[in-house]
Amino acid sequence: MIISFINQKGGVGKTTAAINLASSLARKNNRVLLIDADPQGSAAKWHEIEGNQSFEILHQTHLLDLSDIQILETSYEHLIIDAPPAISDGTKTILMASHLAVIPVSPSYLDLWSCKDILRMIDEVRQHHPDLEVRFLINRKIPGTRVGREVRNALMEFDPITLNSELCQRVAYIDAMKYGVSVMQFAPGSKAAEEIELLCNELVAVTHEGQEDQDRESNPIAELYREETENILFRSFQGPL
Ligand SMILES: Nc1ncnc2c1ncn2[C@@H]1O[C@H](COP(=O)(O)OP(=O)(O)OP(=O)(O)O)[C@@H](O)[C@H]1O
Ligand SMILES: [Mg+2]
Repeated sequence: MIISFINQKGGVGKTTAAINLASSLARKNNRVLLIDADPQGSAAKWHEIEGNQSFEILHQTHLLDLSDIQILETSYEHLIIDAPPAISDGTKTILMASHLAVIPVSPSYLDLWSCKDILRMIDEVRQHHPDLEVRFLINRKIPGTRVGREVRNALMEFDPITLNSELCQRVAYIDAMKYGVSVMQFAPGSKAAEEIELLCNELVAVTHEGQEDQDRESNPIAELYREETENILFRSFQGPL
C-alpha cells in the first residue's frame, strides 16, 4: 500500500506524521519504506540521528518516476511518501502512485483556504486514478479549544473525508524528532503515542476498504457469489420462509 502525506503548505506536519506512521507500521512487523521526496530531506536527516530505525528510508532528490515507485512497492508492505511543500509534476506523480493521500491541516483558516490548490490537483489526478482515496488529518489541534472543534466542521465543505484520528499540539512530537526516534519510542504510553497508534489503525482500515472495493470491481463473479452467500445466510437466520 502506498500512503502519501501531501500539502503544498509547509509546516503542516507531513514529515512528523509520515515518520511516526512508518514507525508504527514497522513496529507491527511490516516491511516499510519511507520515501523522503522533499529536497529539504527532513525525514532523511531525522533518520540519520539514530540510524537504526525499524524501517528503511530513501531520500529521493530528483523527480520521482511512477514506474520506479511501483517497482519499489513490490518489495515492501507499505510505502510512505513524505511529499515536498509544493505543487509540481512530482506532486502529481506521488498522487498517481498513491492508494491513499493524507492532507495534514492545522486548525487555522489559513491552512483551510490554502488547501484548495492541492484539492484541484487531486480532482485532475482522479480522472486518471479514480480509486485514489483522500483524507484530511487534523494536526496540531490545541485540546479544548473552540477552533479545534470548528475546523472539523469547516472541512466538511470539501470533498475528502476528515479522519477521526487527530494529532494534538504536543512537545513529544518535537522532542522525538530531535532525538531521531518516533513518539512511541520517545514516550511510550503517552498521548502522542496513543494518537499515532489510532491514526495507524485508521489508515490501515481505509486502505483495506479501498482494496476490497477494487477486488469487487475487478471480480464481479466473486461479488455475485458473495451477495448470494449473504442472502442464503440471511434467509437461514430469518428461519424457513
Ligand atoms: N502535533 C504536533 N505537535 C507539536 N509540534 C508539531 C506537531 N506536528 C508538527 N510539529 C512541528 O511543526 C513543525 C513542522 O512540522 P513538519 O516538519 O512535520 O511539517 P511539514 O509539513 O513536513 O513541513 P514542510 O512542508 O516544511 O516539509 C516541526 O517543527 C514539527 O516538530
Ligand atoms: Mg516535511
